[in-house]
Parts: sequence; structure tokens; C-alpha cells
Amino acid sequence: MTILLTGAAGYIGSHTAVALAEAGYDVAIVDDFSNSSSEAVRRCEELTGRKMPLYEADVADKAAMEKIFAETKPEAVMHFAGFKAVGESVAKPLKYYRNNLDTTLTLLECMAEAGCKRFIFSSSATVYGAKAAVPYTEDSETGGCTNPYGWTKFMIEQIAAGAAVADPDMSVVLLRYFNPVGAHASGRIGENPSGIPNNLMPYITQVAVGRLPHLNVFGNDYDTPDGTGVRDYIHVVDLAAGHVKALEYALGHTGTEIFNLGTGHGVSVLELVHAFEKATGVKVPYEIAPRRPGDLASVYADCSKAERVLGWKAVKSVEDMCADSWRWQSSNPNGY
Ligand code: NAD
Ligand code: WQD
Repeated sequence: MTILLTGAAGYIGSHTAVALAEAGYDVAIVDDFSNSSSEAVRRCEELTGRKMPLYEADVADKAAMEKIFAETKPEAVMHFAGFKAVGESVAKPLKYYRNNLDTTLTLLECMAEAGCKRFIFSSSATVYGAKAAVPYTEDSETGGCTNPYGWTKFMIEQIAAGAAVADPDMSVVLLRYFNPVGAHASGRIGENPSGIPNNLMPYITQVAVGRLPHLNVFGNDYDTPDGTGVRDYIHVVDLAAGHVKALEYALGHTGTEIFNLGTGHGVSVLELVHAFEKATGVKVPYEIAPRRPGDLASVYADCSKAERVLGWKAVKSVEDMCADSWRWQSSNPNGY
């Protein structure tokens, strides 16, 4: 059974490709390499010993995607492709709306034409915006997003759910990821941000490897135990396992279901820095800096629905997240 993964040369998709292949599924990948390298897919093949047909195309290109559907005949689609830099989305909103919405619309059209009925989407905790109280459940209020990137996720959730209303044979699973970190335990695949990282863990690893001088901790006066921001960091390998469970669910159900994928535990910036130092033995110099505009004090998930319905639960510790991120960064100091 073939599963078509868009954007799986990227960080989360590549780890999911490995998990799917290990679970016995055939994986086909389409990516335009706008934020990734084909080397990631080569390494997924190396890790699993399985071929993963790789198509270089823009997922918004209807003609190219029709050919890919005809060749791969996927039973299900996992849609990772999209732009994800929150700050850039504020500066270039149309670029984000165009790419994230167009790719989704083209994909859903191709699926309808090909009779492919299972759609699994990379949504984000960002859809809860600033409205809901933590921990977020899937029923918490969404909207009130603080940036165009977040709105694209919010809108795509509506678009995909609408497609499932129109076609009662369709299954849509919306996965709201919290803060994915870590890397495959082999150190062969991992997160490979271009330029200076926006996110905390890749920033920490680049400071640790000597590419950046120190970490700026964005605010220590939040209403949290140590004053620094609290997030729900989830190991990318746990996240990938959640996709395999979501696929099994989608193969047996119709309609739309939403799942939070996190650990349910909040960790502060300074706790993560100290956990990293403990797990790796490497010092991470930091300075307290002003708050970053748009940041919330505390964001973490209630993941009981995923455990109850999918039988999935994150099992890796914060130490695993740090040790695996560091193994990837230190053995690939310049990425792929
Ligand atoms: P990533 O940038 O590493 O992967 C995205 C991939 O999509 C890249 O390989 C990129 O080249 C590709 N891509 C982008 N536009 C494309 C297009 N038009 N056609 C073909 N390929 C295209 O990002 P990631 O961290 O792996 O994230 C995967 C998905 O998960 C994204 O949709 C992201 O918004 C979502 N998400 C990520 C996080 C996170 O913190 N990493 C959190 C929540 C949700
Ligand atoms: C985590 C904490 C920062 C960098 C983002 C997106 C979200 C989702 C995941 C896609 C915060 C602090 C960070 C630094 C710091 N992505 N920090 N110094 O903002 O929780 O979530 O990625 O859907 O939509 O918004 O993640 O890793 O940027 O920040 O102090 O150099 O680390 O203030 O408290 P965030 P992050």
C-alpha cells in the first residue's frame, strides 16, 4: 500500500517516512526542495533499506501532481509541504497564503479525481491562537492566530474538513503538533534549518557546536515557574509514530478527526537549556533578552484523546530529545 508524502524531504516528513517504511508501508515523496535536500530522502532509504520514489515538483502544480497520482496510486496522502517560518509569514503574508493554501487545494483536487480518500494534515498548536487556556484540548477554541502562518493552518483545517463533509467516504485527520524537536537516533536525519534558526532547539545546538556565540532567552518575566516561556516539546520520532497510528485510524474511519500530538508536559526555556547541558555535557552560554513579540507564556497539550482513540502516547524524554538533537547536529555540523 503506497502512502504519498508531500514535503517529506523536510524535517518531520523524513522521520515519518522512516516510521511508515518500518511499519511496512510503501512511501512515495514529492518535494520541491525549497527548504530541504534530496539527501534526506537518500538517508531515509539507507536507514530502512527500502526505496522511496522521490518526485521533484511543486505540490501546487496540478499537471505534475496528476502524473504523480497516476504513477503512485496512493491509498492515503500525508501533507507536510508548506512554509513554516512564523516571522517570515508576517513580512511576506501572500507568499505563505499562496503556497500553503494552493498546495492543499491542488492536492485535495487530485485526490478527488484519483479516488484517494485518506488525508492526513500537519496542523499546529498555533491554531489555538491566544484565546484558549492551557492545556489545550481538541475542543479548545481556535482562531485569533497571531500571524499569517497560523491562519494558513486554521484555514486549511476548514478546507480539509469541508472536503470530508462533501464526500462521506473521505477521512481527514488533522494533527496539531506542539513543538517538535530531536532527531532519529542514528544521527543520520534531523532538522536542517537554513540561515539562523528561529526555533529554540536548533538555536541551542548551533550555539553548542560553535556556529552561534550564545542563546538569547526571550524574556524571563513571564508568569511561569522560572519566568521563561513554557512549551510542550515532543520528540520527532514520537511524532512520526503518531502519524503511523493516524494512518491506521484513517484507513478504518470516515469524517474529520483532530488530534493534539505533544507530551502533555510543559518545559521552560531554561529547563531545556539545562537538560541539554546535562544530556550532552556541552555548555550553552545564554543571555536574557527582551520578550519576542507574539510569544505566549505557556503552551502545552492535553493529549488524552490521541491516547484513547489512536493508542498513541509520546514515550521519549526531554533528555532523549536533547541527546538526539545533539547527535544529529554534532555529526552533521553543516546539515546535509
Ligand atoms: P520543513 O520545512 O522541514 O518541511 C517542509 C517541506 O515542504 C520542505 O522539504 C519543503 O521543501 C517542502 N515544500 C514547501 N513548499 C512546497 C511546495 N510548494 N511543493 C513541494 N514541496 C514543498 O518543515 P517541517 O518542520 O518538517 O514541517 C512539516 C509540516 O509540519 C509543515 O506543514 C509545518 O507547517 C508543520 N508543522 C511544523 C512544526 C515545527 O515546529 N516544525 C510545528 C507544527 C506544524
Ligand atoms: C520556544 C520557546 C521562545 C528561540 C513555533 C511556532 C509554532 C510551531 C512550533 C509550527 C519560546 C523561546 C526561542 C530563541 C528563545 N511551528 N526562544 N530563544 O514559538 O513555541 O513555536 O514553532 O507550526 O507555530 O510558533 O517555538 O522554538 O520558536 O520557541 O528564548 O532563540 O523558546 O520565546 O518561549 P514556538 P520556538
